Amino acid sequence: MGVARWLALYVMVIVAGNAQDADGALPAATFKAVAEANANGPYTGIVIPNLYEMGPLLSSSSYNATGIIDFAGRRFRFGTVEDRKVILVMTGRSVINAAITTQLLLSFFDVEGVVHYGIAGNANPALGIGDVAIPEYWAHTGLWHWQRYGHDPEDELALESNGDYTREIGPLKFANYTINVTGCPSFDNLLNSIWYQPEEVFPVTGTPEERQHDFWVPVDSTYFALAKKLEDLKLESCVNTTTCLYYTPEVITVERGVSAGIFVDNAAYRSFIYGTFNASPVDMESASVALICYQQNTPFIAIRALSDLAGGGSAKSNEAGTFRDLAAGNAVAVVVEFIKQLSSGM
Ligand SMILES: *[C@@H]1O[C@H](CO)[C@@H](O)[C@H](O)[C@H]1NC(C)=O
Ligand SMILES: *[C@@H]1O[C@H](CO)[C@@H](O)[C@H](O)[C@H]1NC(C)=O
Ligand SMILES: *[C@@H]1O[C@H](CO)[C@@H](O)[C@H](O)[C@H]1NC(C)=O
Ligand SMILES: *[C@@H]1O[C@H](CO)[C@@H](O)[C@H](O)[C@H]1NC(C)=O
Repeated sequence: MGVARWLALYVMVIVAGNAQDADGALPAATFKAVAEANANGPYTGIVIPNLYEMGPLLSSSSYNATGIIDFAGRRFRFGTVEDRKVILVMTGRSVINAAITTQLLLSFFDVEGVVHYGIAGNANPALGIGDVAIPEYWAHTGLWHWQRYGHDPEDELALESNGDYTREIGPLKFANYTINVTGCPSFDNLLNSIWYQPEEVFPVTGTPEERQHDFWVPVDSTYFALAKKLEDLKLESCVNTTTCLYYTPEVITVERGVSAGIFVDNAAYRSFIYGTFNASPVDMESASVALICYQQNTPFIAIRALSDLAGGGSAKSNEAGTFRDLAAGNAVAVVVEFIKQLSSGM
């Protein structure tokens, strides 16, 4: 595509930026800018949770910005990463923001695949802070059926018989996390148990209003194969000149990751997540982006750098405060390398 077209896009962006309506409909100027952008597509969508994770990519020498389109409270940033046309978009924290933003990206723009990245807590004792985990499957673990007190795992859940809810995943029994009851013959907890529920999904290939259920959502198999080629990449181990990890962080493909609208900083829940789900990264967006891409039939992968131990560390406080920027930088290094592979391999 010629420079002139990129310039045209940039000019329209300014127009679109000034034409934001308050009523929710897409303004005509924005619509035009979107059409013009799509004429230059397709793009790889890069979906990023927060500013501190987007920053290192914006300032990377591998990234060149060409223009922006603002609408629906989101900024869609056009540019290239290593010559590949990309749209960067920041979602904001957690599952609702991640889903909305990904859906807007896929509904309005010519996107051939989505690369999602960010930082995460780490539930897997074999991995360390700074490592970059790339799971093959993601699940949203924030959709629960909370069983009433007095009912056991054998008791049917409310609305279970017609297929609305299941007892396939779980339970998490609160009484099992009671402490200081040694020698106490009988104890229980009114919070009883929760059962994890699969999402209702409505794939574009299905019939509208006809639900399907999915818990584990696979990433794109070609993307995952490319990710495996990144395992030799050397990553940064120092926060600054004085604070360093004692090892060199690595890129590791893992089986599973989980996401929910929950910041996990709790050793018991961390170990439950690892034991029950075999999950390594624990975050607040990836499964949400995965569920949208899956339903929209768009290739997807999530690259998550571990910034803390999700409550499992021996430190007195969560490690993310110290290692967040190191992790964000490592995630970006892996994303850039992944995009290079994508361009050379496809
Ligand atoms: C960014 O743009 C400049 C100027 O067009 C070009 O020289 C440079 O190679 C580009 N860098 C990348 C990583 O695409
Ligand atoms: C809770 O603890 C009991 C007693 O150790 C055990 O039999 C049961 O499997 C545990 N249940 C769950 C859901 O962890
Ligand atoms: C529980 O027991 C531990 C170890 O005996 C003790 O350190 C802690 O203070 C107790 N916690 C409570 C809430 O009583
Ligand atoms: C390096 O980072 C650590 C952790 O954030 C901080 O305590 C320390 O002051 C920093 N050192 C320098 C030289 O900036």
